[in-house]
Amino acid sequence: MRFGVLGTGVVGQSIAGRLVELGHETRMGSRQAGNEKAVAWAAEAGDGASEGSFADAAEFGEVVVNATAGGASLDALEAAGAENLAGKVLIDVANTLDFSQGMPPRLSVANDDSLGEQIQRAFPEARVVKALNTVTASVMVRPGPLGESTNLFICGDDEGAKGQVAEVLQSFGWALERVTDIGDISAARGAEMYLPLWLRIYSTLDTAEFNIGIVRGG
Ligand SMILES: NC(=O)c1ccc[n+]([C@@H]2O[C@H](COP(=O)([O-])OP(=O)(O)OC[C@H]3O[C@@H](n4cnc5c(N)ncnc54)[C@H](OP(=O)(O)O)[C@@H]3O)[C@@H](O)[C@H]2O)c1
Repeated sequence: MRFGVLGTGVVGQSIAGRLVELGHETRMGSRQAGNEKAVAWAAEAGDGASEGSFADAAEFGEVVVNATAGGASLDALEAAGAENLAGKVLIDVANTLDFSQGMPPRLSVANDDSLGEQIQRAFPEARVVKALNTVTASVMVRPGPLGESTNLFICGDDEGAKGQVAEVLQSFGWALERVTDIGDISAARGAEMYLPLWLRIYSTLDTAEFNIGIVRGG
């Protein structure tokens, strides 16, 4: 399958790299085609890897991943082009951390809205699935080293899109029964508002390589 990965940061690089490793043609997008990090990534990733603008990557992908800074995601997706997202599964990995007022970061969207919903509203023809935003980049694409089964949350309005995303996650190493569908795209509020707790656990454990697991009582 062809993927477009919007984002040249550690998340974009991790996801795009894993997709190429799994045999998918993958184009990394950034504000400007020829972005230094994207060019270096494509050269290192080898066959199947390419780079371009956000629009180039979105047009290329049958599935598109939003791995841009949360505060800039709507602009990045605007640049990607609604026409290049229409009808496609759009995996939204972004978080809305706002560091502009210092530490700890605030959430720029919270409570009765979320970035996932904003994206779905702005691009009604895209099939938005929020996923992977609750774990660090290395864990997203290789959960195995955690050594235990932990949970990943997905949500979105399109059941078929969630099914497709679950398959991608399974190919990354997530057990399907641990990919927990928490409902429609408004559930992105919870997934995004988990971040303050994630940051506290991170500073307590002094590592980003962790995740949480659900234990059922009945
Ligand atoms: N780091 C993690 O482990 C982790 C874990 C879970 C979720 N997340 C979320 O995943 C997303 C990506 O994180 P990251 O750390 O890889 O990278 P990042 O530094 O948050 O974002 C980098 C990307 O954002 C784009 N960008 C920045 N400002 C922009 C603007 N004004 N307009 C358009 N695009 C802009 C950059 O474009 P250029 O390529 O053109 O520079 C770049 O592609 C974030 O939303 C983050 O919160 C991160």
